[in-house]
Amino acid sequence: MPVPFPIEPAVAADAPAIAAIYAHHVIHGTATFEIVPPDAAEIAARMTRVRQAGLPWLVARDAAGGVVGYAYASAFHARAAYGRTCEDAIYIAHDRLGQGLGKALLAALLDACTVAGQRQMIALIAGTEPASIALHARAGFVEAGRLASVGRKHGRWLDVVYMQRALGAGDATPPGDEPV
Ligand SMILES: CC(C)(COP(=O)(O)OP(=O)(O)OC[C@H]1O[C@@H](n2cnc3c(N)ncnc32)[C@H](O)[C@@H]1OP(=O)(O)O)[C@@H](O)C(=O)NCCC(=O)NCCS
Repeated sequence: MPVPFPIEPAVAADAPAIAAIYAHHVIHGTATFEIVPPDAAEIAARMTRVRQAGLPWLVARDAAGGVVGYAYASAFHARAAYGRTCEDAIYIAHDRLGQGLGKALLAALLDACTVAGQRQMIALIAGTEPASIALHARAGFVEAGRLASVGRKHGRWLDVVYMQRALGAGDATPPGDEPV
């Protein structure tokens, strides 16, 4: 069933709504290892960095145009040889969970990253987040490792599960724009 929320590239004016969605998860959850919520200006700066890297930042909107969830990709690591490998992030407004938004945003992000020439996507997921692990497994990610107790938040030690999915041709072909 199609999700009744359009998904489209974020614009700068979305930064406050994105900051508000993220702040809830920073304060109350363990999906992110940030502890102090970044303000809208910092979110805007992060959006600019993603765009300048040629990677997508998408939002899902409600009927009034408000942002109800977002997803973006960033470089998995800064060093040049990692250039075809990205890391995803997806956050849904706390009052919109379980409505198919995460699934729709991840599918759109996978498509956009493939079009952008990325070949692998990595998800770093707190071991405390079964919804995120299930979301990624449903989308074809497989577990690629687990780091034990590398995070500390809300009075508990947190594992990080690495999940990985190939994009497009994956490693079956070299990138089309690679110098010969
Ligand atoms: C993880 C998250 C993005 C999922 O988004 P969502 O819109 O709530 O999820 P959806 O309704 O699209 O469900 C997609 C799949 O996720 C899984 N899922 C969703 N909620 C779940 C839950 N509470 N428990 C277990 N699995 C769950 C299911 O496999 C579901 O697929 P199915 O309906 O075909 O079985 C959302 O819960 C969220 O924002 N969580 C906090 C932040 C976070 O963990 N982000 C990921 C960090 S990269």
